[in-house]
This record gives sequence, structure tokens and C-alpha cells, in this order.
Amino acid sequence: MSGQVLIRGVRLYGEGDPVDVLIADGQIAEIGSGIGSDADTVIEAAGQILLPGFVDLHTHLREPGREYAEDIETGSAAAALGGYTAVFAMANTDPVADSPVVTDHVWHRGQQVGLVDVHPVGAVTVGLEGKQLTEMGLMAAGAGGVRMFSDDGVCVHDPLVMRRALEYASGLGVLIAQHAEEPRLTVGAVAHEGPNAAKLGLAGWPRSAEESIVARDAILARDAGARVHICHASTAGTVELLKWAKAQGISITAEVTPHHLLLDDTRLNSYDGRNRVNPPLREASDVAALRQALADGVIDCVATDHAPHAEQEKCCEFANARPGMLGLETALSVVVETMVKPGLLGWRDVARVMSEAPAAIVGLPDQGRPLAVGEPANVTVVDPDATWTVTGSELASRSDNTPFEEMTLPAAVTCTLLRGKITARRGSGERDRPTSSEADRA
Ligand code: DOR
Ligand code: ZN
Repeated sequence: MSGQVLIRGVRLYGEGDPVDVLIADGQIAEIGSGIGSDADTVIEAAGQILLPGFVDLHTHLREPGREYAEDIETGSAAAALGGYTAVFAMANTDPVADSPVVTDHVWHRGQQVGLVDVHPVGAVTVGLEGKQLTEMGLMAAGAGGVRMFSDDGVCVHDPLVMRRALEYASGLGVLIAQHAEEPRLTVGAVAHEGPNAAKLGLAGWPRSAEESIVARDAILARDAGARVHICHASTAGTVELLKWAKAQGISITAEVTPHHLLLDDTRLNSYDGRNRVNPPLREASDVAALRQALADGVIDCVATDHAPHAEQEKCCEFANARPGMLGLETALSVVVETMVKPGLLGWRDVARVMSEAPAAIVGLPDQGRPLAVGEPANVTVVDPDATWTVTGSELASRSDNTPFEEMTLPAAVTCTLLRGKITARRGSGERDRPTSSEADRA
């Protein structure tokens, strides 16, 4: 048993001639042709593309507390099948990840499962209550070294609390990620405020609820000399504010979700609870602005906001459905549909927005690395010519709440490796989940 893996006939970043890539001892050992005769696993990847493993800055894995919807094991399997080698698990669990007791558990459990590095996100405030800052330093010094803090699910809305959080985070060298939502403007809101919500009789969530916080936090970050990251940017106005802030030299970064790149609020006409999400699906003009911003680098990266909910929490009256959508297993395909097919991004850009930029935003040293000899073998093989039809019940996630149900999407992840170990693998045309014994053997 050499433990070596040979990926045969793959194109790095979808560029140049096909090559063979030999992986040994957790690293990319050799790139060439006619190599790797000792490899005990060969992945035939003719016509396929090798990319650095994806990094998701925004995942809800629900453990501890809501394991009926997802846990670290099922969420890790979904992540590996989606091509991810690292995910950041949000803090809105039960109990909240506001102390090292919880963040240490999330890190250790992720390592035990071993399919993806699960980095815990620490809460900014105790209990997500927006009042008292957590002991960010203790979590940063704990297992896995927490490097990102967020109250996602709710906004750190008190400007003084946010100011202090940015100041402390800056001293610790950690990142604050903001769910930008002024809560006074979203009381009772379930849908984007606009003509469609009015027609459907749904209470509206104005763009200004997001944009007022993005503007405020850019200014707070400027004055604190701190970095701030904006979760799930959803409006054309947020794009303009990001452009302004970056032009001032403010350290601000932002993510966009696959669902905000593909779907708009006309989806709500069916009153299907699967389309309820925070921030809400916006108008077609916002979708176009988000795509252009991702292409231009105004928005830095894609993050899924993978938010599993159980059947009974989604399959009910729209206003009572819990907000959130699955995202890990469909992200790459949605990015190809919305960005690569229309010519807004090439494959090298896909590597940037799904791997390199998110790894850089949180400073992960071993992810988003170049595909080169001596680099850690955190990589993803993608079949650009595959098409598949999304069926929620076939996804590895414990929940089924995908808004892409029955959509036929382009491109599929065929194999993911974490430090040289195969964590997900499908044959051409199959999208079956690996059993844990297959993952163990790999
Ligand atoms: O739709 C959402 N669901 N948005 C959030 O901010 C939180 C998330 C969740 O935890 O379900
Ligand atoms: Zn959020």
C-alpha cells in the first residue's frame, strides 16, 4: 500500500494540456505524464478539470442542538461531495458557539469525521443577544484556533457593540463577519420589499435594512482600522457601497450566495417555503448587479449559507417557513450556470472565488493553494460537461430543502481530496454519495 493517488488526464484550472497528477503523503508529489505506476488508486479524469478544494466561509451545520436537520457528519459529507475541503460552521447553534466549550467540540468532531476541515465560527456576542462581547481571545486560542466571529442569523445591530467588536478583533487578528440587517426595518418581514411582495401580500424586507448596516460597518471598520466581512450581499445598493468603501481603502470583503446569483423574487409566486431565506431573494436587477460584482472582484467570493431545515419547518405556510436553503452540494453547478456559462468567469476565476479568496479572507495557510508540486493535496476534480438534475432527497445533507429541486444544472464534482485522502468520489454520470466505508478505505 503506497497510499498514492494518481489523477490521470486532468487539466489544471481547465487550462493547457491534460496532465497526470500524483498525490503522495498528503501533497502534490509530481505533475507530468506517464508517472505514478505505483499508485494504488487511479482516478481517470480525461476531459475533467483540477481546482484547489473549495472553502466555504458560511455554513450552518446545526450541531450542537438541531441534529435532526443536520450534523457535522452529514454536513461534512455534503461539503465533500460539493468539492469543499474547508467550511466555516456558523455559531447560531444550541447552545450558541460563544465559548471554547462549543467551538472546541465543533473543531474536534469535524476532525474525527475527517471529510472536510470544519472551522468553528465563534459568536460575537454572548447568546447572540447583541449585548455583551464573547471571550473571542479564548476561542481564538482554543482548538482549531477560531479565526472568524459572527452572530449570523442576527445582526450585531448596536453600533457601539459592533465598534468594540471590530476593535477587539483587530487586536486579535481575527475577522468579524456581519449579517447586515437593521432589525428595526425588518420587523415581521418575510420577502423582498417590492412590487412582487405587495402583490402576494407578503410583508416586505427593504434593501435599506441591509445597505444601512453595510454603510455603517464600513465606516466603523475604517475608524477602528479593522477588517469587516459582509455576509450574503443581496442588493445592487450593497454593491455600490462596497465599491465606495474599497475605493476609500477600507478593509472590507463580501460574499454572495449561489441562490442570490440564480434566483429572484418571482420564485415566491408559488408560496413555496423552500424559497424563504434571509436576506430574501431580490429582484432581477439585483441578481444582475451581484453577478457583475463577483466578476469584477467587488464581491470577493461565493459562500453557500447552507442552512438545512427539517421538512416540517419548510413545508408550511410561507410566512411560517424557517428561512434558509441547502447550498453545499449545488454551489459549483450554480456558479457554472450563472457565471461561467454566460462568460463572466473562467475556471481560474472559479478557483479564485470559491477557494483562493475565501482562504485568504480568513488566512487559512493550507487551503486555496496553487496546484503545484509540494503543495497540500486539498483539491477537487470537476467534470465541466456533466449535467444533473437536483433531487433534494438524494443529497447527502440530512435535510432536503433545496430551492433548486428538479432543476437541471451543469458541471459536477467527481472527486474531492483532503490532504491526499479521497473524501468524495463519483463515477461519470453518477451522483451517488460515498458510503463511509468507501471514504474509510480511501
Ligand atoms: O436564511 C437564513 N438562514 N439566513 C440566516 O442568516 C440564518 C440561516 C439559518 O441559520 O437558518
Ligand atoms: Zn445570515
